[in-house]
Amino acid sequence: MVERTLVSPMGETETYERDLVHLARVAMAGRAQDVQTLVQRMARRYQRSNESLAGSLRELLRSAPTAQTPLRGFGNTASLPLDSDSRLPLIRAEQLGPAVRPVLAPPVRAAVEQLRDEHRSADRLARQGLTPSRTGLFTGPPGVGKTLAARWLADELNLPLLVLDLSSVMSSYLGRTGGNIRKVLDYAKSSPSVLLLDELDTVAKRRDDMAEVGELKRLVTVLLQEIDDWPSGSLLLAATNHADLLDPAVWRRFDLVVKFPLPGPVELEEALLSYCGNEAPRNIAFLARILQGASFADAERFVMTARRKAALGGEHTFDVLLNMGQERLAQMNHVERLQVALDLVQDGSLSQRRASELTGVSRDTIRRKQRTDQEQ
Ligand SMILES: Nc1ncnc2c1ncn2[C@@H]1O[C@H](COP(=O)(O)OP(=O)(O)O)[C@@H](O)[C@H]1O
Ligand SMILES: [Mg+2]
Repeated sequence: MVERTLVSPMGETETYERDLVHLARVAMAGRAQDVQTLVQRMARRYQRSNESLAGSLRELLRSAPTAQTPLRGFGNTASLPLDSDSRLPLIRAEQLGPAVRPVLAPPVRAAVEQLRDEHRSADRLARQGLTPSRTGLFTGPPGVGKTLAARWLADELNLPLLVLDLSSVMSSYLGRTGGNIRKVLDYAKSSPSVLLLDELDTVAKRRDDMAEVGELKRLVTVLLQEIDDWPSGSLLLAATNHADLLDPAVWRRFDLVVKFPLPGPVELEEALLSYCGNEAPRNIAFLARILQGASFADAERFVMTARRKAALGGEHTFDVLLNMGQERLAQMNHVERLQVALDLVQDGSLSQRRASELTGVSRDTIRRKQRTDQEQ
């Protein structure tokens, strides 16, 4: 039995070896969905040459817990579209599960929630002869929640999220890219899902390369056509960090454009509170002030690094946050530093002396400002 598996009657040792290595690779990367897809493919491939192996694999697929597969809408037999060359999946299928609710400024939140409600209440729209927005473009700097919002939307609509990262598809030969993209779009249309075309600007960026202009034009044409023809009832989202690189013709195709700005102080405070968890400092305002201008992703990284550092060194997270904040403080002007000092002194987090050392604002100035603030 063992021998038969290793040296197949069809002389397919090489195929076995290749599949084994491929399987090991996706398993070690923890890509459970890809493992399942591969096993499905192997069960089909060995159906003739090794019936008992194929039977065992099918049995495995039947008994494996599938309730959690993100592609439950796609049924068990559907496999992810693969790159024609590498045979690796072209899209990421995200796990359904409680997605983090992004912190969004009120107008952005309203736009994203309306998109959700349109799809949830499609029948109400239909009574007025309307259909939900089919396509949406999310623009804004990196790390402000474009991908997160797409994931949250899919979760709210109880649909699988399929992510096609155009920056990775585009790195393969352009000639193949068109075919690959078409495969993904067809796949996404085959069952209810939310498809996210991430890093859409990559398509535009390659335009400088003259040798590939023809190929690229065809690609853009394919994409634009698909956006136009996207079926109602399905949701196509695209995200870009460089909206300025996109042709206005691309913008116009989308039913809805949502601009995600950098977080303002209110949003930053709310997000920081959740990143800090139960180690949140008494007054989060000082941290939001130090991190102003940062993206959510940067703020999260800052806090998580501090929390890990504190845990390793047995320190208080607050002290580490203050320490790590020095560098950013040094780049702030006097008025801003004075504000940080006041934040920390007024709620009793720091003494005037300590606040003065930290911010480089004299104790006198802090005291005077505190007094005038109190008088008002
Ligand atoms: N609006 C937000 N609210 C809360 N956390 C956020 C937000 N935006 C980004 N983050 C954090 O940063 C990470 C990266 O964000 P992401 O959505 O991928 O950014 P983008 O797609 O805009 O580049 C998220 O996983 C999340 O942890
Ligand atoms: Mg993103």
